[in-house]
Amino acid sequence: MSVVPYKDQKGGKKQQVASMFDNISKKYDLLNHLLSLGIDIIWRKKAIRLLKNDKPRLILDIATGTGDFAIEALALKPEKVIGVDISEGMLNEGRKKMKQRKLDHLIELQLGDSEKLLFEENKFDAVIVSFGVRNFENLEKGLTDMHRVLKPGGKTVILEFSKPKKFPMKQAYSFYFRYILPQIGKIISKDQSAYTYLPESVKAFPDGRDFLDILEKVGFKKTQCKTLTFGISSIYTGIK
Ligand SMILES: C[S@@+](CC[C@H](N)C(=O)[O-])C[C@H]1O[C@@H](n2cnc3c(N)ncnc32)[C@H](O)[C@@H]1O
Repeated sequence: MSVVPYKDQKGGKKQQVASMFDNISKKYDLLNHLLSLGIDIIWRKKAIRLLKNDKPRLILDIATGTGDFAIEALALKPEKVIGVDISEGMLNEGRKKMKQRKLDHLIELQLGDSEKLLFEENKFDAVIVSFGVRNFENLEKGLTDMHRVLKPGGKTVILEFSKPKKFPMKQAYSFYFRYILPQIGKIISKDQSAYTYLPESVKAFPDGRDFLDILEKVGFKKTQCKTLTFGISSIYTGIK
């Protein structure tokens, strides 16, 4: 059974995830930084640094949301970053941000499904995702399509929540994720379920070796995992 945001509603995971992000889009950036005490910004920077030596010119940011990972990728001085997402609400917030920061000539945000990307194969020098893969309806399908559009020799960088394994971080994190985060999330986003879905989806999602196995299964080589902040998040990389 896949974890969905609204258990009492009909509709597949993809449809529910899209409407959940539409609902919380206006408060998403604020909640991200507040609930992670700003650490999410450092995690994104660290993930992008893993592409420094690759000097990618054309980058695809999957599940771009409001575009923060795409903005971070500009540190690599690419010619262009294309961001795709299934939530029009998140993309609209992202487009406003790009305009305000005068980045709209470098970052293009498009409505698109990671499981059915509308790009030809071998197009991108790098394909990146932050906090997106956990939300895919069909993880293997999404990762396979990411592999398809990546150039041979290109790198994927995936940042995602993982589960701390050691005492006392494991217990502290579990308490925070189960009891504190959903309450703050609910009050600020006004969405009853979005921040309950977050810990539930992290709990059910493969991390560490399990995730690398799936990356290898869909064709990525030289896969690696780097854990961040006691294992709260991990960065996965793989080469086509
Ligand atoms: C937690 S947000 C992450 C946004 C951004 N990458 C960040 O780091 O802040 C997850 C995003 O994944 C998007 N998403 C989920 N499933 C998707 C799919 N199949 N294709 C494209 N985007 C998807 C959601 O709409 C949402 O905007």
